[in-house]
Amino acid sequence: MNSVTVATLKQQKLAGEKIACLTAYDYSFGALLDRNGIDVILVGDSLGMVMQGHDTPVPVTLEDCIYHTKCVSRGVQNAMVIGDLPFGSYQVSKEQALRNSVRLMQEGGAQIIKYEGGQHMVEVTDFLTTRGVAVCGHIGLTPQSVNQFGGFKVQGRGDAGQCLLDEAISLEQAGVSLLILEAIPLDLAEKVTQSLSIPTIGIGAGIECDGQILVLQDMLGIYPDASPKFSKNFMEGASSIDAAVANYVQAVKKGYFPEKQHSFS
Ligand code: KIV
Repeated sequence: MNSVTVATLKQQKLAGEKIACLTAYDYSFGALLDRNGIDVILVGDSLGMVMQGHDTPVPVTLEDCIYHTKCVSRGVQNAMVIGDLPFGSYQVSKEQALRNSVRLMQEGGAQIIKYEGGQHMVEVTDFLTTRGVAVCGHIGLTPQSVNQFGGFKVQGRGDAGQCLLDEAISLEQAGVSLLILEAIPLDLAEKVTQSLSIPTIGIGAGIECDGQILVLQDMLGIYPDASPKFSKNFMEGASSIDAAVANYVQAVKKGYFPEKQHSFS
């Protein structure tokens, strides 16, 4: 079993130690992130964009996610590996969500399963977590719903903030161990983080989250298309990829990243 577990992360939140997370999609980068002190590696469906060249994660299949999770898992001994359920692989029924979570765990080697959604995922979450699956929720800008949002847009502004807070609380009550907050105002992310006993991991959600995550290709500055405002190129000034990742870990742990310019109000 990898040494970072959901219990480790909860302990880090209690101790006020920030959690450093990145995405990875293959064996070599899995190993590189692991040896540079990353706590959590997400094999995200962002692979649809950065590995496959799609505009959105919507075309990614369960087989794609299992394949990449398997590759990353082989390189990682310490960090916790999150497997991601892609669009259409968990929305049909709670039985479908359980079946595909089990595949990501048994074939991919994931320790914890992530999927997107708030209130409508509470029942599924309760079903999975009472059957031994550790779950990471993801609310705010949920990229699989990009067609509904009409683009990659900030969520949770105005009245929608209370709704997002309620969703976070309901997901925690249903048993999620970790919650990703994407592209929401920083004061809302702070309120959510203070209201939960599980750790929050922010991406475009400000400094007050318990941890931070970025897409690896964005933080290495190698994604050929536009990177989001909340990202930062850690290769600038770094002598190697190892150094860039180590700098990212330190920046998150010491609270130097994200800065105001990477956040939304
Ligand atoms: O798929 C992914 O990589 C993600 C992160 C950006 C949070 O969902």
